[in-house]
Formats: sequence, C-alpha cells, structure tokens
Amino acid sequence: MYLAGGWLVTLVWMAQALTDAEVKAYLPKLSLPQETTIGPKDGQYLHDLTVKLKAKRVLEIGTAHGYSALWLAMALRKTEGRLVTLEIHEGHHAIAREHFAATGLARLVDARLADALEEIPRLEGPFELVLIDAIKTDYLRYYELVLPKVRKGGVIAAHTVASNPDELREFLARIKADPAVRTEFAHGLSLSYKK
Ligand SMILES: C[S@@+](CC[C@H](N)C(=O)[O-])C[C@H]1O[C@@H](n2cnc3c(N)ncnc32)[C@H](O)[C@@H]1O
Repeated sequence: MYLAGGWLVTLVWMAQALTDAEVKAYLPKLSLPQETTIGPKDGQYLHDLTVKLKAKRVLEIGTAHGYSALWLAMALRKTEGRLVTLEIHEGHHAIAREHFAATGLARLVDARLADALEEIPRLEGPFELVLIDAIKTDYLRYYELVLPKVRKGGVIAAHTVASNPDELREFLARIKADPAVRTEFAHGLSLSYKK
C-alpha cells in the first residue's frame, strides 16, 4: 500500500516537472537583466558539457534568480546528478527557489543561502563541473577554494564576459599558467579542465 502510494506521488511529481522545451520557454521570465546572467548560448553550452561529463555533482557560485541553475538542472535530470548553488543575497535566493519549484526542477537543486567564500570549504567534493559567476574580483579566491574539490577531467567554468578586464586580470593569468589545468575559452566562458 505504502509502495503503491509512493509510486503515485512519484508519478504525480513527474507529471508536474516541465519539459526542456517548456523550461526554455519559461527562462525569459526570469527578471535579472540579460547581461548579468549567462545567456542562452552559454546556458546551452553548459547544459551540453554537463551531459558530456556525465556529471553527478555540479557546483554553482552565484545563483541570482536561477537562470544558469535551470540550464544545469535540465542537464542533471539526464545524468541523474544534482546541483549545489550558492547565493549570498536573501532576495535572489528566495526568487530562485520559486523558479526551481515552478519548473518542477527543485529536487535536483540544493540551493543554499550562503557566502561562497565561507560555504565552499564546508562542501565535500569531488565535483565534475563548477560554474563561477559571482563577484568578479573574488574569482581567484573561488578558483583556489574549488580546485582541490574538482575531479581529474572535471571543469571549472567561469563567466568572464561583460566584465572589466582589470577585475579578472589576476584570475585569467592564473588559469592560463596553472599547470594543474588546461584552459580554453568558449562564448562568454573560461573553461579550465583539471589534469
Ligand atoms: C552575475 S549574478 C549570477 C547569475 C547567474 N549565475 C545566472 O547566470 O543566472 C552573481 C550573483 O552572485 C551573488 N554573489 C556575490 N557574491 C557572492 C558570494 N560571496 N557568495 C554567493 N553568492 C554571491 C550575487 O548576489 C549575484 O546574485
């Protein structure tokens, strides 16, 4: 009886989750200005990368209203993985949670209201993919904190477009020279593959 009830709940839940096409139609409703979110090209790119990596554990630094997190969650339901996403701003965190619930993808997302600089040391690795997209002047600090928690072959992606190059100078120099990674660039992202 209990099992049958459990299956029923699962079926009802599955019926409520939006399809990828429906989530993509929903994404423009997220209210943050386009230049502060990763945008549809980078969203699709990160979605495809998550699937290609068969990622089970993904970390995002900077949830905002959940735009990039929804792209990652669409991929993670294919890989049966899960996203941890960190946001320091209470209002943004609350709005993102509403979007995760409205799309039926909340079960794939561990959305935490936290300062990434404090929370990352508490997180257990390994992660297959990390997306850095918070304060540009802190990118180097996020990078150094997450690097030991990324598995070999995993990727640290950083949203680098639309920023003042001075803000990212040290970070970009580090990811280009760090022997622990091989870095390439695609669209508005840097992608550092851990060796
Ligand atoms: C550019 S937005 C993120 C956009 C989001 N990734 C997307 O594409 O939809 C940056 C977010 O990082 C958050 N943030 C800034 N510093 C943070 C920190 N130390 N820890 C967690 N979140 C932070 C900001 O409040 C803001 O919501």
